[in-house]
Amino acid sequence: MQKIIIALDGHSSCGKSTTAKRVASQLGYAFIDTGAMYRAVSLYFHEHHIALTNPHEVDEALKKIQITFHFNELKGKSDTYLNGLNVEDEIRKMYISDLVSEVSAITTVRKAMVAQQQKMGKHKGIVMDGRDIGTKVFPEAEVKVFMTADSVIRAERRQKELLEKGELIDLDEILDNLKKRDVMDSTREEGPLRQAEDAILMDTSFMTLEEQVDFVINLHDKKL
Ligand code: C5P
Repeated sequence: MQKIIIALDGHSSCGKSTTAKRVASQLGYAFIDTGAMYRAVSLYFHEHHIALTNPHEVDEALKKIQITFHFNELKGKSDTYLNGLNVEDEIRKMYISDLVSEVSAITTVRKAMVAQQQKMGKHKGIVMDGRDIGTKVFPEAEVKVFMTADSVIRAERRQKELLEKGELIDLDEILDNLKKRDVMDSTREEGPLRQAEDAILMDTSFMTLEEQVDFVINLHDKKL
């Protein structure tokens, strides 16, 4: 069966990963959450007190980082591993969300992650979500969707997710973090967040998960 690449880009917390995961599972495709990779790098830098402004320290640290995804049977989804350790819960915490956009703006960090992502999608049959998938990682992706949603709705969704994991964070703090990340992600020099010219816009503010999944699957089916 012919397999293609689906790139889902967009703003923070508008449901990219949840949609991507469902689409991948329905199509029998692999799913890669590239945000998790930048979060894992941020966790490593945080734990090893890497000075983000010191290119030598950053480059040496990058050589020591290995990020992998392993399927968790219990959860029915993949967990993120950093150098063999399951960091899935840790990388979702607020202190990582506060750090990740600074880390992901570093050119060498992006180069290393993009190269790894391109390897992962080499054989197609992949749904990848992030910020620069349709513009930089796979500009030739057959399906490109740019996702967005009202910022308050996004913050409320994120607050619910964090609460389910036991972290109670004020809505204003989350909203502030989302807005800051959107600005930093959109204005950086390397791989900025922007809608690819051939990407279809999907505003998920008032869409159910099922509607989002159907939207992407329809685009996929039209390409076959
Ligand atoms: O998708 P998620 O919100 O987990 O991504 C966390 C952060 O990782 C983003 O705010 C962005 O700074 C960075 N990121 C990126 N490029 C990607 C995916 C994520 O710069 N392809």
